[in-house]
This record gives sequence, structure tokens and C-alpha cells, in this order.
Amino acid sequence: MSRATSAALLLIFCCSLSSVSCSKAEEHDEFDVRRHLSTVTRYGAVLDVADNSFVASSIPEGCTPIHLNLVARHGTRSPTKKRIKELNKLGSRLEELVKGVNGASSKAPAWFSGWQSPWKGKLTGGELVKEGEDELYQLGLRTRQRFPSLFDEEYHPDVYNIRSSQVSRASASAVAFGMGLFSGKGNLGPGKHRAFSVTSESRASDTVLRFHDCCDNYKDFRKSQGPAIDQLKQPILDEVTSAISYRYKLNFTTRDTASLWFLCKQEASLLNITDRACGLFSPHEASLLEWADDLEMFVVKGYGNSLNYRMGVPLLEDVLNSMEQAIKAKEDGLPSGSYEKARLRFAHAETVVPFSCLLGLFLEGSEFEKIQKEEPLQPPPRPPQKRNWRGSTVAPFAGNNMLVLYSCPASMSSEYFIQVLHNEHPIPMPGCENSDFCPFEVFKEKVVAPHSKHDYDSVCKVKATPKPGSSKLLQFFRWLLFLEKEPGHSHSYEL
Ligand SMILES: *[C@@H]1O[C@H](CO)[C@@H](O)[C@H](O)[C@H]1NC(C)=O
Ligand SMILES: *[C@@H]1O[C@H](CO)[C@@H](O)[C@H](O)[C@H]1NC(C)=O
Repeated sequence: MSRATSAALLLIFCCSLSSVSCSKAEEHDEFDVRRHLSTVTRYGAVLDVADNSFVASSIPEGCTPIHLNLVARHGTRSPTKKRIKELNKLGSRLEELVKGVNGASSKAPAWFSGWQSPWKGKLTGGELVKEGEDELYQLGLRTRQRFPSLFDEEYHPDVYNIRSSQVSRASASAVAFGMGLFSGKGNLGPGKHRAFSVTSESRASDTVLRFHDCCDNYKDFRKSQGPAIDQLKQPILDEVTSAISYRYKLNFTTRDTASLWFLCKQEASLLNITDRACGLFSPHEASLLEWADDLEMFVVKGYGNSLNYRMGVPLLEDVLNSMEQAIKAKEDGLPSGSYEKARLRFAHAETVVPFSCLLGLFLEGSEFEKIQKEEPLQPPPRPPQKRNWRGSTVAPFAGNNMLVLYSCPASMSSEYFIQVLHNEHPIPMPGCENSDFCPFEVFKEKVVAPHSKHDYDSVCKVKATPKPGSSKLLQFFRWLLFLEKEPGHSHSYEL
């Protein structure tokens, strides 16, 4: 080999080495665990992380917004009672782990000794915390600022229709949003606030905002998926558990790992602490745990099972109806102040995630076509492969979809258009040729209509009860069906 070639080779070798280490360092610097907490991610941590590869449509000249639909998740909340108990137990578990360890050679994190849950002694949980109030309040302010012509009206509950599920963190979120939206417009106190109404359906029959809670088939499915989800997550927990056990020379169980990841999510989102429980995990390990959470969300709330989003059809129809009413009011030339300009809904991840699926958001490549053909989708791929399906994007605290109805000049292809904003960023709809500004008729036919054929009752009512010992009436039905369906067979069957 000549000296010139070997020098050149050496040069290439050095370059590639340095570029590897350089990109690694970059990755490490950029990794902020606060953006990787799946649905425990704070709104502010992801608000500015938009998909740069998508160029939003500019709204054509002469088009004006005439109605807005909002479907939002409640803001940041404290851990629930059950989770508070889990964290209390983690305190004694960590104590147990470090007990047998020799002080001098110990690799155990110092904070393990004597650690107590910051929520210890708290007997209630799940409420909207002050950071969560702020998320919704600011969203209310920004919404008014962005659509001044929609919010210049005198307040009336029929013009600004505010609804929440019958759960306090959701109704408190509606109130925080309204305080931002109407601030300075009333007579109350130095903030010139005004009172406004928030209405809720009863929890037991709220098929628009808490459809998951009244859907028997979904509840059965959710229960049945417990073992499958454990199985799905187990290999990931095993992998991370052996990595951290080796690193800290402690015999963690997978349950410890799950609890420590839960603690990491709470510390990072509620207390802005990232160097304790989150500090136990490398960026790679945190990404794997985040992926495990996203997989679970895929299976029980997302595209993993069509039931997850089909039960949300009443919400989609409520959105469509409000648009049609707004169009009618416009065409009838009703005086302003006499018709609805915004329908604002505050609910849960169990609402926002299925609703995003009904709109076809966050799909990859040809997945929209697959869904139309009722073919199952592959679960989101393991990191470092990229995926659209991320809890931190789809449904962080205060995560939301806005559908803005525009009225456009007669010279355009359609008189009415729908713009979809996810977390306030325009987002393409595969059902509308990946446009974020969709002619109303196309939205109705390509996005809504395919779902409308699935009626809530037939999706949600338990169809048959294969359990033995069921009621006489059900036994009679089974007998009838048995005669019809499987003459001569006494095997169990599924309907
Ligand atoms: C962890 O478990 C292994 C094997 O069961 C045992 O040899 C080791 O001493 C344990 N380590 C600690 C720190 O308890
Ligand atoms: C959270 O902590 C970081 C430092 O890690 C700091 O820069 C940031 O301002 C904090 N955020 C809040 C909301 O306190």
C-alpha cells in the first residue's frame, strides 16, 4: 500500500470515528426525558416540537373561521390514589434493596437511603394541579388570540358551548380554559373575569366524552388485555432491569423497574426533577420504557383494536353536527350572537386518543388504506426506529385537537373547509389526501362517513354471553342462536 493511500485511509478512519462520537454526543445532549414521558408528558415540553417535514397550508385569502370544535385532555394532574400507594411501597422497597449492600463499595444511588415518596400521607389524588391549570388557562388565551373573530362575541352559553366529562380534573380544566378565554371581558375582580357555564353528562351515560366508561364490550376487552399487555412489556422491563441491576449492583425486580419509571415520570412532569429516578435510566433505557407505554396505549386506546376508536363515533358525530349547524346558521343569515361559534370539550386521554384515531392522525405510510380494508396494523416499531405513535405527542397533559370550520369565497373548489390542529399545529389528514385544509364535503365523506356506519350500541353492547350459569333469558337466546348457527354441534361458539 502506498503511503498516500494509507494516509487517506487513516484520514477516512479518523473522520468516521469522530463523526460517530460527535453524533452520539449530540443525541445525548438533545435527549430531554421530559419529552419522553408518554401520556405523562407536560404540554409545554412538546408544544414547540412540531413535525418540520410537514408544511402547513396557508389559509387562502377570503376564508374566515366561522366555528371551532375543541377536544382537549385535562391538564397535568397529581398521581391517583392507587399510584400514591405504589410509591409509598417503593420507599420501603428501596430501603430493602440497599440494606444488605456494603457501604464503601456500594454503587446504589445515595438518594435510595431514607427516600420517601413526595406524595406520602396524601390521601386523595388525581386532581388538576396548578401547572395543569396554567396549561389550560394559557391555551384559552392563545385560542382567543388566534381566532379573534370567533371570540369577539358577547358571552352566551349557546354561543360558547363548554362541556366536560363528569370528572373534576376535566371540569377544572374547562374552567381554567374559560378563565383564559374570557379574561378581561367581565366585571369580577381585578382580572375582570366573568362567570360561564360548564355542563356535563352523567358519567354513567356520557357516550360523547367518556364513551369508554359506558361501553361494555370495551370494558370486557380492557380486562382481558391485562395479561397480553404484561407479556408485551415484560421483555422490555427484563432488558432494562438487567441493565440497571448490573450498573448499580442491586437486585432490582421488573416490578421495581416499573415503579421507578413511574416515579421518574411523576418527578419529571410534576416536580421538574430529572436527576433522581429518571437519572437511573440511560436515554436508551428511558426510550425503551417510553416505547412500552406507547405500545400499551396503542393496544388499549389506539389503532391496536378498532373497538378503541369506533366507540368514539358519537363524539365524531357531535363534532360533525355542530359544523353542519354552523353552516346552516351562516346560510340562513342568522344574526350574530344567535348561533354557536365554538364547542369546547374537556375530557381524558381515553377521549383524545380515540378521537385522533377517528381522524386518522399519526398513521405511517399506507396504514390508512389498511384501516379502510379493516386489516390490522403493526405495533409501533422499537426505538431507535422512528414512529409517529408517541403518547407524548398524541395525548400529553392538555393535548388537544381543534377543528376549525372556514367559510371561503364562492370562487374556491368548496365553500367550507376544515382545518385540523393537533396541539395547535396544523396536521395532515390521510383521509383528505394528507391535507390539513380539507374541503368540508371531503371531510364528511372520506373521514367521517366510513366510521358512521358503526353505531355505538352495536359496537358496545355485549353480544353473547358464553359464560355458563347465565340467566334464563340469555340461555334461551343461546338456545335460539344455537339452533340457527350450529345445528348438530354442542361446542361453544363465539358471536
Ligand atoms: C443478587 O442476587 C445474586 C444471585 O441471586 C446474589 O449472589 C447477590 O449477592 C445479590 N446481590 C445483592 C446486592 O443482594
Ligand atoms: C426545570 O428545570 C430546568 C433545569 O433542569 C430549568 O431550566 C427550567 O426552567 C425548569 N422549569 C420549570 C418549569 O421550573
